[in-house]
Amino acid sequence: MSKIVVLGSLNADLVVSVDHAPNGGETLTGTGFTVHNGGKGANQAFAAAKLGGSVAMLGRVGDDDYGRQLVRGLESVGVETQAVRALDGISSGVAAITVEASGENRIVVVPGSNGAYSEEELERDAQCFAGAKVALFQLETPIATVKKALKCARDAGCITILDPAPAQPLDRDVLSLVDYVTPNLSELALLTGVGLSEESSEAEIIAAAQSLLQFGVGKVLAKLGERGALLVEAKGVERIYAVSVKAEDSTGAGDCFNGAFAAAFSQGIDEIEAARFACSAASVSVTRAGAQSSVPSLKEVLAFMAR
Ligand code: RIB
Ligand code: NA
Repeated sequence: MSKIVVLGSLNADLVVSVDHAPNGGETLTGTGFTVHNGGKGANQAFAAAKLGGSVAMLGRVGDDDYGRQLVRGLESVGVETQAVRALDGISSGVAAITVEASGENRIVVVPGSNGAYSEEELERDAQCFAGAKVALFQLETPIATVKKALKCARDAGCITILDPAPAQPLDRDVLSLVDYVTPNLSELALLTGVGLSEESSEAEIIAAAQSLLQFGVGKVLAKLGERGALLVEAKGVERIYAVSVKAEDSTGAGDCFNGAFAAAFSQGIDEIEAARFACSAASVSVTRAGAQSSVPSLKEVLAFMAR
């Protein structure tokens, strides 16, 4: 039985490397092209399994080569994929990504089969939450499905973790089903309506996170990149510091964080230590290309933490 259940998207990431992103109407020569396994759900499942978690993935692919490749990638690290079902007549999800020399990325996602993971489809998989300790969600599958799955996970006694990415406003009836919400800075801004930027002070970020607690979220674990993370709950705030690294490609760094956090937490490591582990795993991942391809091994994360 898997301790971690991840419900979410699987995408083929079509990655073009460029010196700088093109302007409208401009044609540029890129410096490289690769196809990586991606999708926020699959990335989180992959990271959790590679870092020692026992993981089952729930999702939908198309009946195509990308879909088969995405499933194989998850299985290569031991993810249970019985509930990653192939749907007829629709393509797998794809993400068209440009990565600039600075490491910055721009992503256009076409949901394909992820968008067809309906509430009715979820009924085929709902029993998968039974016996799991942690359930992970993101927002690349329909919100109605995520909401229903959050309820199933809660009913099964799971700790629920929601990565509110890509950012979209969320109602109280979704947020109140969440034990840990893990926004980055821009997602926190969108969820709370508080204008936040890289220049915002820690106090401003904490105040925004606290305002989210009023929507019934258990705890806010804010992912702040080089600034580390903040765990904000009713009884107080904990700071997790990050070491700065030279970024090559930040695609999927937030997913690596969530997967690593779930891997550690599901094995009984306390939330602060799990968040520290997650920050370190994400830091290593930004020094490498791709999403799943950049997830470090457990040994590499522990070596990074011991520096
Ligand atoms: O979070 C990174 C992911 O977002 C990429 O792998 C891409 O598929 C997009 O969904
Ligand atoms: Na990366």
